[in-house]
Amino acid sequence: MPKTFFITTAIDYTNSPPHIGHAYEKVLADVIARYRRLKGEKVFFLTGVDQHGQKVQQSAAKAGVPPAEFVKSITQKFVDLWKKLDVKYDAWAATIDPLHKTCVQGILQRLFDEGQIYKDKQAGYYSIRQEQFLTDKERGPDGEFGPEWGEVEFREEENYYFKLNQHKEWLLSYIDNRKDAVVPDFRQAELRNAVEKLSGDLCISRPKSRLDWGIELPFDKDFVTYVWFDALTNYISFAGYDPRQSTINSQSSTFRDKWPALQIIGKDILVPAHGIYWLIMLHALGFPDEQMPQLLVHGWWNISGAKMSKSAGNVVDPFALADKYGADALRYYLMIGIATSQDADFSEEHLIQFYNRDLANDLGNMLSRTLTMIRKYRNGRLSWPSLDQRPPYECKGWENYTNTMNQFAVHQCIYIAIGAASFCNQYIEDQKPWALAKDPKQTEQLDAVLYYSAEALRMSAILISPILPKAAHGIFDQLKWKMELAGKEERFRFEEAKWGGLPNGHVVGKPVPLFPRIEISD
Ligand code: MSP
Repeated sequence: MPKTFFITTAIDYTNSPPHIGHAYEKVLADVIARYRRLKGEKVFFLTGVDQHGQKVQQSAAKAGVPPAEFVKSITQKFVDLWKKLDVKYDAWAATIDPLHKTCVQGILQRLFDEGQIYKDKQAGYYSIRQEQFLTDKERGPDGEFGPEWGEVEFREEENYYFKLNQHKEWLLSYIDNRKDAVVPDFRQAELRNAVEKLSGDLCISRPKSRLDWGIELPFDKDFVTYVWFDALTNYISFAGYDPRQSTINSQSSTFRDKWPALQIIGKDILVPAHGIYWLIMLHALGFPDEQMPQLLVHGWWNISGAKMSKSAGNVVDPFALADKYGADALRYYLMIGIATSQDADFSEEHLIQFYNRDLANDLGNMLSRTLTMIRKYRNGRLSWPSLDQRPPYECKGWENYTNTMNQFAVHQCIYIAIGAASFCNQYIEDQKPWALAKDPKQTEQLDAVLYYSAEALRMSAILISPILPKAAHGIFDQLKWKMELAGKEERFRFEEAKWGGLPNGHVVGKPVPLFPRIEISD
């Protein structure tokens, strides 16, 4: 039986409401998940929220409510946003879930029993924001800890440690043997450099006197586990991992059918969290090399070159944008305005420009003029072209679409999908159906132009459906195609993106503006 395609995202902190950066990552994962389903694969898409830790405890205290109540309200905002943006996941990883807690404790207990976790004393500088002790390596050229560490204080603490360092050689060899452990390549190189410099073990606990909003250590009730150990485990706990089974083969078929996952993360959490802690945790738990997840690392949306942050007051609210322009317009910009591995600047003007250029002008225009002409010249009825009327171009681009999507270059795939419509706009200009309609000798030619234009729209809708699910349905609705599957994702199938799908005599519907131009008002 073919395996399920398993895709995860970083789980978002619940110390503040979602912003556009969170939305980008989840839409990216959703697009990849939808593309895989379009290809006929079974998909398990896991996303969720990171609810424990000091940041949350502090924000809750500031708001004057218990952490459990605080995370409930912020979690709801994430759930609402994914619904609004049509992010369709299969399982929700919320780390206060008792199932997750049991799994995290089971893992801790096993690693403790196997001598991978020990107790030790540490004194030093501690970053409250990053929830970790700092070493001199983290000091800037001026000898100070930079602003990225937030408030830094001196601490002396007894804690539990995970033997990270003893797996360093293994991690280096794993990275060297697997060229696509991390995508893109330059991030894999960045990770390798970081691993070479790795020294010391990982502190995985916090005394309850400092932090009690977390999962208790099963072997010492005075401590909770450090937030990364808790958070990273979500990727397996919500996929059915049983910590009591030490080999992959003894895991349930539910888990084995999915794992390993494609894990989508931002560039800030590759080193050390995912690239070092997570891979080593899995290795220590007995996951063989071929069962390591692949890490897809994306860049960041900035504002005029600067990081988005609450303190800078430049956080972009995805709810407001989705309300103003619609979910598809926002999804479109998030996918076309950035190359997956790079950073980009977010601007509402760019959102409007891309929308007007590609959706209102190209795709929207193609839809309305095609349907208008079919209705005007043929009462809405399509006729199959005769054999000597060839399609205006070959669908070779689709192979390209698959390859490009497999390399996660979503913005390039969009050009292929929309390209079918732009091409046909040009085709219509060249063929001049309005002139053909006046010449009785050109009846067959006119039928062919109208048929192939409707077909190009149908194929564009299929290829754009992972990115713009609502608009793809809108196009099919207006073509009056597959109405029995209206609103359902199964309506779109990649294998049907080839010429000749619409039957002879098919009657199309009325054109309704799908992407009204956004006029900029001052
Ligand atoms: N909770 C941790 C991850 C735990 S994973 C086991 C975390 N949360 S976060 O809310 O700060 O970030 C969640 C994801 O959003 C990360 O992958 C991060 O890179 C991404 N982004 C946060 N800001 C972003 C932008 N401005 N642009 C793009 N992605 C951004 O880290």
